[in-house]
Amino acid sequence: MLLQALRACGVAHGDTLMVHSSLKSFGTFDGGPKAVIDALLEAVGPAGHVVMPALTATYVSLPKTDGLAFHPARTPSRVGAITELFRKRKDAVRSGHPTHSLACIGPRAAAWMAGHGVETTTFGGWDGAYAHYVRADGGPSKLVFLGVTMVCNTTLHAVEEWLGLPYMAEAMARVEDDAGTAREVRVTQAPLGPRGFYKPQDRHHLHMARTGRIRQAACGPASVSVLDARACVAETVRQELATPGALLKDSPDCEFSTKGRAAILTMQDEVRARADEIRRRGLSE
Ligand SMILES: CC(C)(COP(=O)(O)OP(=O)(O)OC[C@H]1O[C@@H](n2cnc3c(N)ncnc32)[C@H](O)[C@@H]1OP(=O)(O)O)[C@@H](O)C(=O)NCCC(=O)NCCS
Repeated sequence: MLLQALRACGVAHGDTLMVHSSLKSFGTFDGGPKAVIDALLEAVGPAGHVVMPALTATYVSLPKTDGLAFHPARTPSRVGAITELFRKRKDAVRSGHPTHSLACIGPRAAAWMAGHGVETTTFGGWDGAYAHYVRADGGPSKLVFLGVTMVCNTTLHAVEEWLGLPYMAEAMARVEDDAGTAREVRVTQAPLGPRGFYKPQDRHHLHMARTGRIRQAACGPASVSVLDARACVAETVRQELATPGALLKDSPDCEFSTKGRAAILTMQDEVRARADEIRRRGLSE
């Protein structure tokens, strides 16, 4: 049933899928998270790739995760049961980013996930793991949302970094070596602070819907939404050029957003140059 829904949304063999999910949204689903993963892998076939966020909330500053350290093989994903089962599979490769790791299955998984580790702590990077699945070596790349809205669209944070937006943060994260010894590392381009797009009714989502590029189907009670990754980047860049700070909150009461927007207005030439660079590097249409 999920396979049919994915096909109805245009997913085909050879595609790269970046998948955000809620297992509960499927209701009682025969086979549980394994069946969801199997359907995704079947949808793209052996030449395709499935990528999932495997974020860990391992910032030192988060009180609720005090003491938690990131180790690529041991630290659970905190973005859903499907992602946790996925990253634990023997054929999955997990990147080593201290807070925003990804997991990937597919022929290019090892190459795509490399260079996104504890020592290269930038979030996206021109050649980081996020850039790799968006570019997908020039093949089709799609963002998939299973039972969730696009408020969890992690790719938007990579676009923020590629555009050089000045409100990305520096923070400390905790990582752990194989012997279990923890240390703190600095992460740059951290997507901390509020965003407008964290709310489903935000203007970002209205503009994205108006592009007509979101394909939707249902799998039982779960919604299935699919959006071309490079179309998403292109539309997000367009929004930022038209309305500096487009991903921030559209509210004068939000100090973070007000300051961020003011800083962007002082660097419009750089943002425009980076928008060109994003296209040149094959990250947007
Ligand atoms: C936060 C989020 C993961 C929560 O979704 P969820 O469906 O409640 O949680 P999970 O996907 O972890 O699924 C666990 C639920 O599935 C249910 N479940 C477990 N096994 C199951 C099975 N075999 N069949 C059906 N349901 C099952 C469990 O009851 C559990 O619910 P409970 O915690 O109430 O007991 C989801 O809302 C979300 O935001 N997903 C996207 C996250 C993301 O990609 N973020 C990246 C950027 S921040």
